[in-house]
Amino acid sequence: MAPTDLQSYLALLEQAGRLKRIQATVDPHLELAAIVDRVCKGGDSGQALLFEDVRGAGMAVAANLFGSLEQVGWALGTTDIAALARRLGDDLVAAGEVKAEQALTKICNLAAWQPAVTDRLAGRVRDQSDRGLDILPRIVAWPADGGPFLTQAQVYTRDPETGAANCGMYRIQCHDRHRATIRCRASSDAARHLAAWHARNTAMPVAVVLGGPPVLAWVASAPLPYAADEVAFGGYLLQQRLEMSRCRYSDLLVPASAEIVIEGVVEPGSTAPEGPFGNHTGRYDAEAAAPLMKVLSVQAATSAICPWTLVGPPPMENIHLARATVRLFTPLVKMALPTVRAVHLPAEGIFHRAAIVTLDAKDTRPLAEVAGILRDTLLLRNARLLVVAADDHDPRDIPTVFWQALNAVDWRRDLLIEDNQLTIDARYRPAGALVRGEEAVLERVLRRWHEFGFDTPG
Ligand SMILES: Cc1cc2nc3c(=O)[nH]c(=O)nc-3n(C[C@H](O)[C@H](O)[C@H](O)COP(=O)(O)O)c2cc1C
Repeated sequence: MAPTDLQSYLALLEQAGRLKRIQATVDPHLELAAIVDRVCKGGDSGQALLFEDVRGAGMAVAANLFGSLEQVGWALGTTDIAALARRLGDDLVAAGEVKAEQALTKICNLAAWQPAVTDRLAGRVRDQSDRGLDILPRIVAWPADGGPFLTQAQVYTRDPETGAANCGMYRIQCHDRHRATIRCRASSDAARHLAAWHARNTAMPVAVVLGGPPVLAWVASAPLPYAADEVAFGGYLLQQRLEMSRCRYSDLLVPASAEIVIEGVVEPGSTAPEGPFGNHTGRYDAEAAAPLMKVLSVQAATSAICPWTLVGPPPMENIHLARATVRLFTPLVKMALPTVRAVHLPAEGIFHRAAIVTLDAKDTRPLAEVAGILRDTLLLRNARLLVVAADDHDPRDIPTVFWQALNAVDWRRDLLIEDNQLTIDARYRPAGALVRGEEAVLERVLRRWHEFGFDTPG
């Protein structure tokens, strides 16, 4: 059974020996993050952490929940992400649309995956609006961060015209008990919603959710088409309708199993300085203006737990979310370009900034044509570097791709630069035959290895 709330996901992790409870008092100012950082970069990097006594906070903090691809799979209701990707690939084809984006939107529109609306949330949570954001742990990750941030929140908004809902993972900086900034990039769906509300000179309703079905944490970070509903996609992945409840101050739907629901509005023109924020580039994002949410209500479940993720120099938890994204969105890339054999986004490329795609060697179409198709896909749209290689390489084998493919590139012929995006055609193979030793000689050498005075096995 797929977990549909944070507490049952934690129970699942604990049963599998993947959860460490930390009972010692931990300071949310830098100390908690330093512990998470050490775990993420250590030998048991997948271990989820439950900080039960966070100084000054009335609630526990769960971190590194998705510390391995396997754990992301559990959140997505599967022990076999490859099988889930195959199911999605088959359903995309069966949707009968030419474009993968439309096929995915069609799947999300199916009645079977629409949210099941219930009032269950109201019976589970208590109103904490007086204390507002002060009920949350004030987690500051890095010394020069501008304040405490919520880093694993789902941000719910709606398009004012179509009513289409969006759920995105954007960082939230808590300024005081009733004010928080939402840092959504200009290209994000929430930024598009915000522009549409403000063009009507109307405040945008927003709901920030912590907890709920863990599948939604991944879906919120995934590059879904604008018209596709993330909650319906979560339902499709779990093969069940997700229970959602209506907000108190808007018609937004939020998970009925949420730990904490923060409702508010962003009034037209209302911004506040956000940051600095220690980011996954390894550098701080500078302070800049971001949309300011006026908090209208905060509700929390009894014994609520605050999910949180550390963002900073990799490797971190987000690389595992990204690995799941690559697995599940590769079928969409293959639908757009059937000669695609494999896609790899190396962790060093930080999420979607760099990609290596291997193509069937028979696809010799010009780079501009192939790149145009690949760059139109949701997964590769934002890749600053895209390497197109032939399928005699495993794209995850970076040393071989570098040695065999990149060394053969003709930099005058095989590059495409557009809008700060570079595409490299690394499909070219020089004419000479591959250098390989003689099989029979190698066998003989191995047989006689000790005779040559070597004391280790050959
Ligand atoms: C841990 C984590 C933090 C993120 N923080 C932000 C952020 O602060 N702002 C942002 O625009 N995107 C952020 N992202 C990326 C978005 O979640 C991602 O682009 C998502 O597809 C956005 O949803 P949308 O397409 O509905 O806008 C973050 C992703 C992760 C995994």
